[in-house]
Amino acid sequence: MKTPLRVAVTGAAGQIGYSLLFRIASGAMFGPDQPVILQLLEAPIEKALKALEGVAMELDDCAFPLLKGIVQTDKPELGFKDANWCLLVGAKPRGPGMERADLLKDNGTIFIAQGRIIDAVAAADARIAVVGNPANTNCMIAASQARRLPAERFTAMVRLDQNRAQTQLAKKAGVDLTAVKDIFIYGNHSPSMFPAFAHATINGKAAASVINDDAWLKGPFCETVGKRGAAIIAARGASSAASAANALVDHVRSLVTPGAIHSVAVKSDGRYGFDANVWAGMPVRTTTPGSYEVITSYGMDVFAKTKIAATFKELVEVRAFVAEMIK
Ligand code: NAD
Ligand code: LMR
Repeated sequence: MKTPLRVAVTGAAGQIGYSLLFRIASGAMFGPDQPVILQLLEAPIEKALKALEGVAMELDDCAFPLLKGIVQTDKPELGFKDANWCLLVGAKPRGPGMERADLLKDNGTIFIAQGRIIDAVAAADARIAVVGNPANTNCMIAASQARRLPAERFTAMVRLDQNRAQTQLAKKAGVDLTAVKDIFIYGNHSPSMFPAFAHATINGKAAASVINDDAWLKGPFCETVGKRGAAIIAARGASSAASAANALVDHVRSLVTPGAIHSVAVKSDGRYGFDANVWAGMPVRTTTPGSYEVITSYGMDVFAKTKIAATFKELVEVRAFVAEMIK
């Protein structure tokens, strides 16, 4: 039996938490032979902590063989203690008519405190995955507080966007989802993100030649993927939750699977025209469990360069907006 991984999840009693925790405990995130201890962190709000009690009762009632313990707390020092993975979900979601960046004032401060505490108390091998919006910027804020853990351990999720793009391409081409490969997301988890369709393949052929509709790829495709979150909020009256939890399972599962190639928002080192020191979506290849290298071999045409420049500009503007928080 392997040693259990300690997995801290913030916002554990929220919408995403309710779809996520059961998947982690069932083995979907870390594999069918990897036991876990869930360290569930909530805000110090009576209602949230009461709801968390109920979620923990349901986890118990699932009798998951891999679940070796549950910690319930509103104290980050306890929630992140010795954690091997810190999944930062807890943050306000946006409502209709808002952009994700509108959440920065409220959510940004959460990530200053959590970044500092994770750096102080999490395990030496800790990995951090940020979901709370605006995810790229919150990840940058959390990483800015770390002195012990290297910046590349802090990643933000753009996997939901990758999954959305894959489905849109499959639907347009009328093929099974599994026929679509190598669609990666560049930049910010915002409408400015760029799903780089020129590198995607469908049944091994260039997706652009299979779809044969350049105007659709450059227009409605990019727009649908970029604005899918808002479309879900408009339809559901609440932001995506089950698909977000599923994407986080994919994000982490790919990061612990050597050889996996997938989209992750990571600290830029200047590749693809992104300035160093923004967290931007890029394709990465997992090297060893929890570690990755950015794939640098994709060439960009003029359209792609323009799209990347726009999402990069936005990331730099938001970074300037939070300059006080990342000092
Ligand atoms: P929710 O409101 O249902 O749940 C958030 C939970 O976080 C609440 O239970 C709240 O009490 C808790 N919380 C707030 N502050 C906390 C803190 N300091 N420590 C611990 N817990 C805290 O929201 P949700 O639908 O679960 O969404 C969570 C976040 O994820 C939002 O910011 C949302 O916009 C974002 N999101 C991101 C993506 C993505 O692709 N990156 C996708 C969907 C949602
Ligand atoms: C999403 O993309 O569904 C999430 O980021 C939630 C949102 O605010 O759109």
